Amino acid sequence: MNNKLWSGRFKETTNKLVEEFTASIPFDWKLYKYDIAGSIAHARMLAKKGITKKAEAGKIVKGLKTIEKEIDSGKFRFSIEDEDIHMAVERRLISLIGDTGKKLHTARSRNDQVSLDIRLYLRDEIKGIISLIKKFQGALILLAKKNINLIMPGYTHLQQAQPILFSHHLLAYYEMFKRDKERLEDCYKRTDVMPLGSGALAGTTFPIDRGYVARQLGFDNVTNNSLDAVSDRDFVIEFLAASSIMMMHFSRMSEELIIWSTSEFGFIELPDAFCTGSSMMPQKKNPDVAELVRGKTGRIYGNLLSLLVLMKGLPLSYNRDMQEDKEPLFDTVDTLKAALMIYTEMIKGIKISRNRIQSAMADGLILATDVADYLVKKAVPFRTAHEIVGRIVRYCLDKGRPLNKLALSEWKGFSSKFDSDILKMITIEKVVEKRDHIGGTSKKQVLKRIREIEDL
Ligand code: ARG
Repeated sequence: MNNKLWSGRFKETTNKLVEEFTASIPFDWKLYKYDIAGSIAHARMLAKKGITKKAEAGKIVKGLKTIEKEIDSGKFRFSIEDEDIHMAVERRLISLIGDTGKKLHTARSRNDQVSLDIRLYLRDEIKGIISLIKKFQGALILLAKKNINLIMPGYTHLQQAQPILFSHHLLAYYEMFKRDKERLEDCYKRTDVMPLGSGALAGTTFPIDRGYVARQLGFDNVTNNSLDAVSDRDFVIEFLAASSIMMMHFSRMSEELIIWSTSEFGFIELPDAFCTGSSMMPQKKNPDVAELVRGKTGRIYGNLLSLLVLMKGLPLSYNRDMQEDKEPLFDTVDTLKAALMIYTEMIKGIKISRNRIQSAMADGLILATDVADYLVKKAVPFRTAHEIVGRIVRYCLDKGRPLNKLALSEWKGFSSKFDSDILKMITIEKVVEKRDHIGGTSKKQVLKRIREIEDL
């Protein structure tokens, strides 16, 4: 006996392997709340427009609410034979309220239904992720404020370049995550569009009220083209792209935390609760969270690529291939949320070794640019100044002399332009303080940016 809800035109029952192969219920059951919310809105619209009777809609809505409770409490029996969450809910509705349940799917297809469910799900998840980003940013700001006086080496090519405020470095990540948040807010606009009424692909002959369905579900807009509506997954791809960029930021940060916590750098110590030991080497404390966030970034990129490739050859409109959109999406949502939550907690517990950070700059060579700038301010052309300072650096390296500890006579040996003020100008603190412009690393500017952020 073939008892599928769509089995009318079939003579044979579905092959068991095919049933397994085509089912999405093992993962799309996650959408049940959205599926039910969408069905309730649809049922009410059918009654409002006289397509079903009010009493019928009442029964359907009540049945759907019962099903929601059954699933919430774990009583609901999901079965692979139901294929997907849409069929599972509908079948249960019919078993609960009888033939009236068979009216729910009037003027609707699973094609517009699944699009609605994903949009409802993603709207919620985007909102949740945005609030997690804000919390993470709050933790970055807190750490920046606590260490506002700490100066560290800034790097290019992973070679010491110029001194910067540690807080300035942290705020660089604040800015990255700010853009990530904006990208999600933008993606939200295109997710927040109501597709129901598009039917399988061509709309419906019933006198539906799409605006009413949209209003019930809190959508500002409805889709403008039924074919596009059932075959559009752009909003998912945009979300996966924005998430990939965010994970790239996380991965870069992870890399820095890993490097900074090596015994060679020793700039920071990650909290014990966020590290693991080695089963063989007793001295080890491994930065696993940071490593896994870096590692999971690959998977998140893979999810984006999966969907781009999935969609690229599909003719309009809906194709079953599109069922493959859900696992990459769910995986990205779950991974991103976990990374945000764990990082928010982890960075609160980072211990900073001021001594190690300061002693990393003990040779003073990180001040070389500022010595060149000093000469330029005394009318030496920049190229010439660069060359003079190059010779000073060589001298320091050969003699093992810290650049910021040279005597005035040593300075003067390289150029008559050096004056006693060089001794006051060339300190780590001074050169940071002097980078006092919008976007610069002076304490004044960094505090100003923190205030702006806090006023946002
Ligand atoms: N489970 C399907 C999906 O996730 C729902 C839509 C199926 N539509 C269909 N005509 N077979 O995409």
